Order: sequence, then structure tokens, then C-alpha cells
Amino acid sequence: MEKETKVGMNRTGMQMAPIQGPSQVEYAQTRPPHPVEGNEEAIALLRASYIETAPRVGSVPVPATGKGIAETAVGKLTGKNPEVLFDKLGERAAYERSGVRLYQAMIGRVEVMAFAEQTALLADLIHIRDEEYEHFTMLSEIVAQLGGDPTAQTPCADISAVSSLGMIQVLTDPRTTLAQCLQALLSVELTDNACWELLIELAQEAGHEDLVPQFQKALAAEQEHETMIKQWLRKAVMEEAT
Ligand SMILES: [Fe+2]
Repeated sequence: MEKETKVGMNRTGMQMAPIQGPSQVEYAQTRPPHPVEGNEEAIALLRASYIETAPRVGSVPVPATGKGIAETAVGKLTGKNPEVLFDKLGERAAYERSGVRLYQAMIGRVEVMAFAEQTALLADLIHIRDEEYEHFTMLSEIVAQLGGDPTAQTPCADISAVSSLGMIQVLTDPRTTLAQCLQALLSVELTDNACWELLIELAQEAGHEDLVPQFQKALAAEQEHETMIKQWLRKAVMEEAT
């Protein structure tokens, strides 16, 4: 792989300005933010007042409409609080769908690079992207079977999309290196793994044992993704370092 980590004129460190540096520290010490009423406690108190009164981010949609369909849905949904399972199914579907986009961005990036292992890396990326897509369609079908609307965005789906905004930025920034993108993808895969584990537990708890084999298959695929990305990241970083 090509060496992408460059040494250059980086002026962000204070040591670049030995005279002005200490004056910057002195300035920060003598002029704390909001000198009249600002301190950590006041910030925490203000945030607490918002937390106490804020509504939640969205809601879990009621399964379909109409009495008949609703009854069917209720019959299919077991467990005390089925909305939790619905919320998490929605989150997983959204995350897997985003995963497809992320891997597609990575594939596009690798396609325009020239290095010895390009074909092998592309094959792994395409394999992972296709499995993320399979997971998304599987989850969408399960939501529909349970009487839900797979096109609805659940609260956890919303929040997981917000959490992964940084990954999208890293993958689509033309300046980022292969190793930096692989690092972002490793975060995605680690989250994928942990979330499938949780979803399996949740399905069991909710009495949906029938869903567990499919979820375990997905978890096995995610474990392979994690291994693949970790190996590629290691290779990229070690090659740059040696
Ligand atoms: Fe994955």
C-alpha cells in the first residue's frame, strides 16, 4: 500500500510558537468562559433542567392501522414491552442500511487507488457490503412480519444515525487515508457485533426464539467482518510504520 502519512508544516501544537504559547495559557487561565456565572456545576444544573423537561426523540410507531391488523400484530408480538424489540429492530435495520452506504463509499475509494492488494481488499469489501445489505432486508422483512412498518424511523434508529455521522464524514472525505477509513469501519463493525448480541438477547427475552437462528447467523457474519477489517487496518498501519 502507498505511504499516506506525511510529515509537513503542522502548526497546531503550541511548541510551534515558543513565545506566544505561554501567553495563550495565561489568557485561558485569566479569562475562563462566562466569568460571571459559568462553572461546571452551573452547566450541569442547566443541562439537568433541560433533561427533566425534554420530550424523547420520536416514538415507536404503533403496528399498522385498523383493528384487525392491530390484533394480528399484537398476537405476533410477545413480551411485556414489544416496543423495545421494535425500536431495536428498527435501529439495526437503519445501521445495516447505513453500512451498505459506507462500504459503497469505501469501495469507490479503493477502486481509484493502485496498490498490490487492491483486488483482495475490494473482494472483502464487496463481500461485507453484500452481507450488510442481506441483514437490512432480513430485518425489514421481520419488522413487516411482526406487523410493523419497516420504512418508519424508530427513536433508536434516529439516534444511531446521529451517532454514525462521523463515520460517514470520514468515509466520504476525499482527504482521508485508507487506514483512517478502515479505522472508522472498525468502529462500525464493533458496534455491529455488540448490537447483534444484544438483539439476540432481546429476542429471547421477548419470546421470539424463532428469530434467534437468523440473528446468530448475522452475528457470525459480523464477527468475520470485524476480523477482516481489523486485519486490513493492521496491514495498512504496519506497512506505513515499517
Ligand atoms: Fe458488518
